[in-house]
Amino acid sequence: MLQDPKRYTVTAALPYTNGPIHIGHLAGVYVPSDIYSRFLRLQGKDVAFICGSDEHGVAISMKAKKEGITPQQVIDKYNSIIKQSFEDFGISFDNYSRTSAKVHHETASEFFKKLYDDGKFIEEVTEQLYDEEAHQFLADRFVTGTCPKCGNEEAYGDQCEKCGSSLNATDLINPKSTITGSKPVLKETKHWFLPLDQYDAFLKEWILEGHKNDWKPNVFGQVKSWLDDGLKPRAVTRDLDWGIPVPVEGAEGKVLYVWFDAPIGYISSTKEWAQREGKDWEPYWKSNDTKLVHFIGKDNIVFHCVIFPAMLKAEGSYILPDNVPANEFLNLEGNKLSTSKNWAVWLHEYLEDFPGKQDVLRYALTSNAPETKDNDFTWKDFQARNNNELVAIFGNFINRVVVLTNKYYNGIIPAPNEFSDVDEATLTEMRAYPAVIASSIERYRFREALGELMNLARLGNKYLADEEPWKMVKENPERVKTQMYVALQIAAALSVLSEPFLPFTAAKLKGILKLDDVPNAVQTMGIVDETLSFNDAERSSHKLSWNDIAVKHQLIPANHQIGQAELLFAKIEDEEIQKQVDRLEATKTANNAANKKAEPQKETIAFEDFAKMDIRTGTILEAEKMPKANKLLVLKVDTGIDVRTIVSGIAESFKPEDIIGKRVSVLVNLAPRKLRGVESQGMILMTENTDGKLVFINPDADGVNNGEMIS
Ligand code: MF3
Ligand code: ZN
Repeated sequence: MLQDPKRYTVTAALPYTNGPIHIGHLAGVYVPSDIYSRFLRLQGKDVAFICGSDEHGVAISMKAKKEGITPQQVIDKYNSIIKQSFEDFGISFDNYSRTSAKVHHETASEFFKKLYDDGKFIEEVTEQLYDEEAHQFLADRFVTGTCPKCGNEEAYGDQCEKCGSSLNATDLINPKSTITGSKPVLKETKHWFLPLDQYDAFLKEWILEGHKNDWKPNVFGQVKSWLDDGLKPRAVTRDLDWGIPVPVEGAEGKVLYVWFDAPIGYISSTKEWAQREGKDWEPYWKSNDTKLVHFIGKDNIVFHCVIFPAMLKAEGSYILPDNVPANEFLNLEGNKLSTSKNWAVWLHEYLEDFPGKQDVLRYALTSNAPETKDNDFTWKDFQARNNNELVAIFGNFINRVVVLTNKYYNGIIPAPNEFSDVDEATLTEMRAYPAVIASSIERYRFREALGELMNLARLGNKYLADEEPWKMVKENPERVKTQMYVALQIAAALSVLSEPFLPFTAAKLKGILKLDDVPNAVQTMGIVDETLSFNDAERSSHKLSWNDIAVKHQLIPANHQIGQAELLFAKIEDEEIQKQVDRLEATKTANNAANKKAEPQKETIAFEDFAKMDIRTGTILEAEKMPKANKLLVLKVDTGIDVRTIVSGIAESFKPEDIIGKRVSVLVNLAPRKLRGVESQGMILMTENTDGKLVFINPDADGVNNGEMIS
């Protein structure tokens, strides 16, 4: 781990522009990387927080084919949706680029060219999978098959998402083209391979020796198992018509493999940023005192810990990542998030239903982040986090402080009297939080860090609850001044320390406290008993920084005027949550319907067999539950012939009172049989709907009378 870096290059995985982004992306990559970058900036560090759209590769081509538009139209569409979502959720990239940008095509081409010229590739004609119907070579997501490592039948040509293995398409057992569904044949083609096996010793020493203690166990473990398995050369070019052309002679119709070009996108995006800011990009990638950190999801580990470092090493002038804090996956209500199954909470849709509540989602996702194992997002948990934590703890504390300050002092912060032991202890505890939270963030433990932030809000709440200024204000108004002064310091500390996690709330809170009006001179004054007055001439728009909370006596000074109370968080009602749950239910029903396979047809029967059945239309006259049986209802049915008793196993699908009067079809000549001692004289014809619920085969056509035979 690099000590005292001079600058930080923080990257967040470039999202594929083949769909919008959902809570899984936010929880896994973008919120943690944003917390980290904001935290570093608040510490006054030099940070480049880099991202952009990943616009090449088979994922894009496939989406274009599916939507009947060009790849360019696909990337333009999703690039703008994704970019907007990031802005909406306050993901504070210093630069968001696109791999279709000119600077990227140039950077990636040059990178390839350098490796090519330096003889770092193996050039080889090999047999690759080819789809004869589509007249196309198949690689990556154009081919699925069985994973040779874990047996997953839906592994892709570059990777198995089940066991995380990185694969070559020809490794798949029973490969199948995802374009035509046909079985591919082998056909010769020339490609350039990066001989990963030659980097084995370097990778082992760098990671297995060098990072066994500071990389997350999930990341370290995955890398170790690949290295133990042994690495193979890997093709870095593809036969495809979408991507960056391979910049050498004799490579017509070939493009760079998307996982070769995309990580170079971090470098291109940094260049774009540096150019705009009038900076030099190179130190951010080539200087040993730069700390490079890649935030990614677990399916990207091999590319960021093995392949990209091998590329950087081969190039020779780049630094390697100091850490790759990959997260596991977030599930939604117990099921894997899925773009194709629409099993997701899309960010743009969330904002339609919860406008202005970006921080609530950031909070819920961080508190429940899949840092060490896969985790589940549920709407109930989301509601509870908002109502029981943000509203009840953080919001409640701030509201009390601001309301009371306005009520007692017209919003002007009182000068404190002598601090009691409790006051001193409380302020001392407050001053410890920047270090406590920082220590968690520096170890990439964002849930823990957020928990500590909430503990600071709890400290404030407890202080007020114990001191009860509202009771003391009559008998000892001087003491209350000190109490409110102390509470206001905690409020100010929260406005700074919450910023990485809840940037919108922090800004709102700073606005309420009018922190931007606080003079710099006062905040830098230092020790506890110094004079509290300040010179107006020294006012400046100095912002409190992270470390100020630990060292400064007064974060917000006496005589400073704060604003009126505004609610930071509002309670989320059951109905709002129910609406989301219902939406997911509807998605499930639709997916089930789409997936439901009809039962195969039974053996053929003779007409006589059918004719034996006497099926009549009827009406249910009475219905009640069979005592002590969960599934059975006892019905009285008018069959047109008679009124008879039928025992039917439908109690889990219907309430008795709801089916009285319903028209049904009845098999009337079924041999009677006793169920729980009641003789059932026939059978009601039913089928199952897409929810798995029973429904009647309904004879409710116009003018059909009971007793009509069904034939
Ligand atoms: N687009 C990839 C994904 O969504 C991530 C690319 S990360 C980069 O899984 F390093 F290649 F940029
Ligand atoms: Zn597998």
